[in-house]
Amino acid sequence: MDQLHNTYGYFSDDGHEYIITRPDTPMPWINVLSNGDYGLVISQAGSGYSWRTHASLNRITRWEQDLIRDEWGKYLYLRDISSSEFWSPTWQPCGESLDQYRVRHGLGYTVIESRRGTLGSQLTCFVPLDAPCEVWLLRLENLGDQPRGLQVFTYLEWLLGAAPDWHREFHRTFIETQFHQEHGVLLATKVLWELPVQSKTHWNHSWPYVAFHSASETPAGFDADKRDFLGRHGTPHRPQAVVSGRWSNRAGRWGDAIGSLVLEMTLAPGETREIAFTLGAADDREQALALAQKYRDTAIVYAELQAVREYWRNLIGTLKVETPDPALNLLANGWLAYQAIAGRLYGRTAYYQTGGAYGFRDQLQDSLVWLLLGRPEKTLEQIRLHAAHQYQDGIVLHWWHPLAETGMRSDYSDDLLWLPFVTLYYLHATGDFSCLEQEIPFYDGGSASLREHCLRAFEVALRRRSPRGLPLILKGDWNDGLNAVGAEGRGESVWMAHFLHYLLCAWAALPGEDSNTAARFRREAEALREAVNQHAWDGAWYWRASTDTGLLVGSQHSLEGRIFLNAQTWAVLSGVADDQRARQAMASARTHLYSPYGPLLLAPAYTQPDPEIGYLSRYAPGTRENGGVYCHAACWAVLAERRLNGAQAAYDLWRSFCPPVRGADPDHYAGEPYVMPGNIGGPQAAVPGQAGWTWYTGSAAWYLRALIEGVLGIEARLEGLRVHAALPDGWEQYHVQYRFRGSLYDITVRRAAAGERPACQVDGQFWTGEYLPLPTGDSIHVVISV
Ligand code: GLC
Repeated sequence: MDQLHNTYGYFSDDGHEYIITRPDTPMPWINVLSNGDYGLVISQAGSGYSWRTHASLNRITRWEQDLIRDEWGKYLYLRDISSSEFWSPTWQPCGESLDQYRVRHGLGYTVIESRRGTLGSQLTCFVPLDAPCEVWLLRLENLGDQPRGLQVFTYLEWLLGAAPDWHREFHRTFIETQFHQEHGVLLATKVLWELPVQSKTHWNHSWPYVAFHSASETPAGFDADKRDFLGRHGTPHRPQAVVSGRWSNRAGRWGDAIGSLVLEMTLAPGETREIAFTLGAADDREQALALAQKYRDTAIVYAELQAVREYWRNLIGTLKVETPDPALNLLANGWLAYQAIAGRLYGRTAYYQTGGAYGFRDQLQDSLVWLLLGRPEKTLEQIRLHAAHQYQDGIVLHWWHPLAETGMRSDYSDDLLWLPFVTLYYLHATGDFSCLEQEIPFYDGGSASLREHCLRAFEVALRRRSPRGLPLILKGDWNDGLNAVGAEGRGESVWMAHFLHYLLCAWAALPGEDSNTAARFRREAEALREAVNQHAWDGAWYWRASTDTGLLVGSQHSLEGRIFLNAQTWAVLSGVADDQRARQAMASARTHLYSPYGPLLLAPAYTQPDPEIGYLSRYAPGTRENGGVYCHAACWAVLAERRLNGAQAAYDLWRSFCPPVRGADPDHYAGEPYVMPGNIGGPQAAVPGQAGWTWYTGSAAWYLRALIEGVLGIEARLEGLRVHAALPDGWEQYHVQYRFRGSLYDITVRRAAAGERPACQVDGQFWTGEYLPLPTGDSIHVVISV
């Protein structure tokens, strides 16, 4: 029984694969495969690119961001020797000639199956758990009754450094290719790496890896120069080498460096043949040859593929959600966590945004996903990494490049506060206060405890305030695009006031915190609450910001950008608004911002660039932050709804931008039904309700949290796990397995039978506490009837 069919595909029975049945999806429907260092993205057409450690600064293969043509990748060709016919087993680059096509995107692998006439092929791509390479396992099957003489060609273009290498004539002169006869491996090196480092090695530095491309069978030959392979004016659609069945065996320097291996084989009728190809970037030549050698053994390839599948199954298997809603179950039991980890924490890149850097606030928030999977040590790892990118004065890098270790000192008002924000979540999930004493270096030297790192962030945020006590927005806050509002240092942010208020209260409530600090934080929080309510209430909602010249943004007097979502949702989440204002603010959000496909970030959209607002106003109306549904922020609206209006309201809103639900009309929605988009077009967009920027930061980890906390009401608190049990209409029950403090909480929430009193039972005993008991054993059974 497969699930949630639409025109282009469906989820597998166990939900862990999305199966695409035709290549012409409305946009590329991709997968991100990464082991945390090496990675690749692959589309349903077989296109994509590969990297090591940093998808932009250390790209292995060339790729051009053209989502319509989607015609750059690492490709295979099959050529029938007797008829000279050729085709590719993936849709690109040869396209139309296939008789059957099916793509299975799984957790950690992608399989592309196709058939042309009587030749079937199955291509499985994955990244081994701890090797800097990828493997393509090609399985060919002769379904006919005649022997088939075949040539298999591979094709990829070496980049070996910072992408895009648009000045190819320059870059190619630094690359050298070599064919290692004995091992049958193509090697490629580059003696220039344009890594943005400050020392004299800048533009004077070799790419320190050795790229390799190999096959499990000894190649009949190879090409290493684009001109030899494609031919003058040739294209990947009809490469000269494949058309003619001839190759040059020429490698060296000065060519336009590519990698192409050729294998020759004869398949008897009914015969199946498996070949494993590898592509990677090793630390040195020795490792390159060793890895190439290792994956010649297809038994090893199968074992490693299995290990990858188990790795993901174990990782996501700690959280189990069963509800009457199949779309919700599919996302909760794998895809959201997979997107957050593979896409955002490991790869940090995809098709719409090709990245590789760390965003200070981005990966911190993404790392909250580990807490929902019972792996808090991974969140702490992320906290430590980000704290090490804070300066001694408390300010942090807005983003930084791994490998180069360079970044941008942040002028955004909020960045630094995400450090205490995520630390607080970690503390609530674990109760591990010893983390606050861990010594972590500063980016500019010296070190201090994690507590001190957090307190320095608070100090900066508390200092940066306007004369009337509201936080300054500076070059932007969570909303990067508001980058002109307060660039001169006078504009204010109401969202920042909510955010800071929330954090001050939460920090002050930590047991064992210094009582002076706690008292001061409480006073400051109170002062902020008063300032916001005195100055920023706009009649029916909170305005969002004030500009350097004192104009209001997100106010009833604004012609465009009249109301902003974050200023309302966070008024609720932070406790800044009293009940009446909270209700009025959210009622205004509902009236002006909620759409059938999710809550808009602001409305109406800006139709003209507004130099006082910033680049947000320069996006096409309805696009991204300019009046689209920005899924990251939409998740906060789900949490605010829960707080104010209960589970039904939260669930309705959650479902309004749920990808498998919206994807029921895939030609309209366009995005992958199995992952979150960053944004969805608003009413003023060319296509309202169309998804964009899939696999993007923020949305997946928060959407999972909005589901667990907002819809299912399960919250990890210092005191213990709290379940605000409530059932949306039509649900008789739901069941969740959740790891908390090393123990498995098996929670069933069900509707009380007629005449039965609502009650909570823990391991068979009635329980009346607000928090479930802390674990004493491996598992705890909880049954709540409501
Ligand atoms: C992007 C940025 C993120 C920011 C958001 C809203 O997602 O990566 O840091 O908070 O946009 O502007």
